[in-house]
Amino acid sequence: MKDKQIEKLIKAEEARQKKTISLIASENYVSDDVLKALGSKFTNKYSEGYPGKRYYKGQTYTDQVEELCRERALKLFKLSPEKWAVNVQPLSGSPANLAVYVALVPAGGKVMGMSLDHGGHLTHGHKVSATGKYWMQVPYGVNKNTEVLDYDELKKLAIAEKPAMIIAGYTAYPRIVDFKKFREIANACGPIRTDGASPTSNGARAILMVDMSHFAGLVAGGAYPSPFEYADVVTTTVHKTLRGPRSALIFSRKDKTKTSVKGNEISFSELIDKAVFPGLQGGPHMNQIAAVAVALKEASTPAFKKYAKQVIKNAKVLSDELKKLGWKIISGGTDSHLILMDTFMNGKGMSGAEASDKLEKEGIIVNKNTIPNETRSPVDPSGIRLGTAGETTRGAKEKDMIKLAKRIDGVLFRKGGDKF
Ligand SMILES: Cc1ncc(COP(=O)(O)O)c(C=O)c1O
Repeated sequence: MKDKQIEKLIKAEEARQKKTISLIASENYVSDDVLKALGSKFTNKYSEGYPGKRYYKGQTYTDQVEELCRERALKLFKLSPEKWAVNVQPLSGSPANLAVYVALVPAGGKVMGMSLDHGGHLTHGHKVSATGKYWMQVPYGVNKNTEVLDYDELKKLAIAEKPAMIIAGYTAYPRIVDFKKFREIANACGPIRTDGASPTSNGARAILMVDMSHFAGLVAGGAYPSPFEYADVVTTTVHKTLRGPRSALIFSRKDKTKTSVKGNEISFSELIDKAVFPGLQGGPHMNQIAAVAVALKEASTPAFKKYAKQVIKNAKVLSDELKKLGWKIISGGTDSHLILMDTFMNGKGMSGAEASDKLEKEGIIVNKNTIPNETRSPVDPSGIRLGTAGETTRGAKEKDMIKLAKRIDGVLFRKGGDKF
């Protein structure tokens, strides 16, 4: 590279990644092929619009890349192109989620999403996100005692509040989500509204959106339940367990429609395409879309299936070992790549910020995280979140997780005193 300052920083970051252990649940390590596609000359091309309907000329190859990416996305999740569409242009997870709101929920409408401190994402209606400023969040959480979802409680809340949309799928929830139950809850709100009426009007049935950002790779690998049988819309980032570039996809059912102000029936898929472009974005990042296509092909291989299963095996062992060493694991364990660990332990341990600082000094990278019914602040919460997707990509197995748990415990253990 001619730019020595940036070259130096790239090399330094490469070295940092090499010598540290990343347990950030939302990170992974992409293949050289994904990097090659990201760094390709597709970055030079403007392609506003969709395949066959672009504004600028010169789209022979961009059209092919985007079509291929769509085909691979539908195939990977076993979706029929007659029933499902996929938009591969969202620049990342947050704009993808915002596009769904813009497409399907009238401004000011109610969206039932998990609150941040229980494991929901900011874009599930938190007040600091545009989704909480322009729509109204009906927050829900996990059961205080079990720390898992209580579907009866959710149903009561949904019937009382009649949200226009319900979001399932989270940032820090380690357990399997019962999508069938969520469908029943969405249906319990009454018949679907097609007239753009107030979201609180009686008889509104909620749209079910699943944000599978965290577990998409596990679904692709057959290691976690698929939400597609029950959801109307599924969003996902590509850069977590799916092991692709930073990007996002929006899947939507073609047979679900809304009535426009002119009285025409418009499918959710068409509304979502319009919300992405021209609603929220200009030209898609075609180099990114090429890299997504590469990652989707990689995720369809038998090796990836094995990988997805190993990710979960590793997380279960890490969680069990930390428990044996005396740490409190939220919900008592995990069914996914993700572990939420209470480091504060009612004042007997340390805050999540202190724990993550200590671990970073020893080369273990994690993030501080709120825990359900948090008593501290989001900037200095009670826990940390751990994930096994990245280290499993690097070949880690159960025996490595046993060692890692001991290392984490050793770093956090306060020398000279009783442990807890
Ligand atoms: C469940 C969920 N949805 C959406 C996002 C947002 O993705 P991005 O950071 O790409 O905007 C995240 C990010 O961590 C997430 O965990």
